[in-house]
Amino acid sequence: MVAAFRSNLHFGAEPRAGRGNYRQMDRGSKPAVLVTGGAGYIGAHTAKALSERGFFPVVFDSLSSGFREAVRWGAFVHGDIRDARAVAEALDEYGAKSVIHFAGLIEVGRSVVQPDLFWEINVAGTTSLLTAMRERGVERMVFSSSAAVYGQGGRGPLETIPEDATKAPSSPYGDTKLACEWMIQAQCKAYGLSAVALRYFNAAGADPSGLIGEAHEPETHLIPLAIAAALGDGKPLTVFGDDFDTPDGTCLRDYIHVNDLAAAHVAALEVALPAGAYEAVNVGTGTGNSVREVVEAVGRATGRPVPHSIGARRAGDPPSLVANASRAKDLLGWEPTCSDLDRIVADALRWEAQPAYGSGRRATSRKIESTN
Ligand SMILES: NC(=O)c1ccc[n+]([C@@H]2O[C@H](COP(=O)([O-])OP(=O)(O)OC[C@H]3O[C@@H](n4cnc5c(N)ncnc54)[C@H](O)[C@@H]3O)[C@@H](O)[C@H]2O)c1
Repeated sequence: MVAAFRSNLHFGAEPRAGRGNYRQMDRGSKPAVLVTGGAGYIGAHTAKALSERGFFPVVFDSLSSGFREAVRWGAFVHGDIRDARAVAEALDEYGAKSVIHFAGLIEVGRSVVQPDLFWEINVAGTTSLLTAMRERGVERMVFSSSAAVYGQGGRGPLETIPEDATKAPSSPYGDTKLACEWMIQAQCKAYGLSAVALRYFNAAGADPSGLIGEAHEPETHLIPLAIAAALGDGKPLTVFGDDFDTPDGTCLRDYIHVNDLAAAHVAALEVALPAGAYEAVNVGTGTGNSVREVVEAVGRATGRPVPHSIGARRAGDPPSLVANASRAKDLLGWEPTCSDLDRIVADALRWEAQPAYGSGRRATSRKIESTN
């Protein structure tokens, strides 16, 4: 398996003689941070935020769902997290002593039909990554966890979720995120790593520069699907259930602008923690928006109603997932600054109008251009 991965491994810049010095020259005095999955949606926005903060992001990505065009800051290493040796080489090459770990599979529905694949990539991949990190003396890890670790867990629909709420994932995807958290926590205790698991709620929006944005293929997230439906490029939107115990009957979610999420990663990297510490922190706004409110916001932004129908509930969809975000403020000094729903939708729409990459997006792009 390792041999197969290694044949894919190459570095983003041409190697030169004395390459250790060369990598040092690449990054100057900036601290290098290995960003697994940094060619993906949230990872690319975080690489930009790291660079703006004076770090040198080293994106380590298999490009299984990410895009080379999204890697615009720091360096790129093509590799698979399941290949501990390739990860160790990248850590050595750039002298990285911290890792932000985004790499993995994310589609909840796919995890139901292919749970083994999710355990292989998300859990075994994280095990392998941790092995390389331990061998190379990495001191800090920030891990992409998810509100999916909670499930509904007996909570009332309008209650926000603190970090110590019952963990009851309702999908194999959520199971893998929780398993990774447990494993990371145990390794902190055993080996002196310090780690912050950020439990994201619903990441949305795009960087206003237009350079990077959301490009999942297939797209399963509500805001891009609603925009595509409004513009007539996607299928009409299906709203999965309008009979939940919520104010308007549709599910409540906590939408967080991807740039606010990126800022939370920088804060988690910089927060002072003793060796062996493990912290789990929600990253959300503390405010829920219903599916119906999102549909209306997209209608306002596009100037067109979103064609939609009401379908059956999806198995395992909790009625509400809204963060209690006070710990992020207390521990990390982080608060959202750009996660107003209309702002998120406006930034998402700007990206959809002119996506810099993502093959599924060209038709949408043309459609928007033709209406301007
Ligand atoms: N998008 C959300 O709303 C959301 C919510 C909660 C948690 N998360 C978590 O955040 C992380 C990033 O999500 P995203 O939306 O940016 O997803 P994404 O699919 O855009 O990015 C994932 C990246 O990981 C890479 N990757 C996958 N398997 C790999 C492997 N074996 N080795 C190396 N690279 C690999 C992909 O090529 C891709 O670039 C994921 O771990 C996800 O579970 C996302």
